[in-house]
Amino acid sequence: MASKPSELTPASLQEPRCEAADPAFLLSRRQFLFGVGATMTVLSMPGWLVRRGMPARVHAQVAEYPRQTIARLSALRTGDVLSFNYPWDHPQSLNFLVKLGERAGGGVGPDQDIVAFNSFCTHQGGPMAGTFRADIGVAGPCPIHWTTFDLTRHGMVVSGHATLGLPQILLEVDGDEIVAVGVMGLIFGYYDNRVDPSA
Ligand code: FES
Repeated sequence: MASKPSELTPASLQEPRCEAADPAFLLSRRQFLFGVGATMTVLSMPGWLVRRGMPARVHAQVAEYPRQTIARLSALRTGDVLSFNYPWDHPQSLNFLVKLGERAGGGVGPDQDIVAFNSFCTHQGGPMAGTFRADIGVAGPCPIHWTTFDLTRHGMVVSGHATLGLPQILLEVDGDEIVAVGVMGLIFGYYDNRVDPSA
């Protein structure tokens, strides 16, 4: 049986095997050109921004909400519900504050049981005002399609058609004052909570 040519060549005369020749280590021409293009684009961005009067460093924009006093801590009792408007004096900015009597996500006060939420269902805007159930710490069911929200867990959906939790009003305690300082979640009917809906 004839031997293959490579088997006849002395080991010292065979070309050394290079790892780079392994296909796993090779770049295609397309990958190489794409890599060069991406690198040049990134390197040229700071100069491009400066030439257009923009800072080379771009800072993240952080949502800013007003601070608004909602209630007196010393006046609240377990089961109390208060209505208030925030962040706008607008029908969809209607919210409710409750003292649940049990610790809740985002809760403030000595027992971390005071929370506040927007009053409109995230599904199709059903009115949730007046649906708070103090015995089980939920709001609902929504009168339109029966979604129920858990107020002890940041307003997450318990059951029903809605897929987003009830927007939670962020609270702080400042001395004896309970202060609204922001909103977590988009209020139904708004495209941005910070844009005045009446404008
Ligand atoms: S509007 Fe509330 S569940 Fe549909």
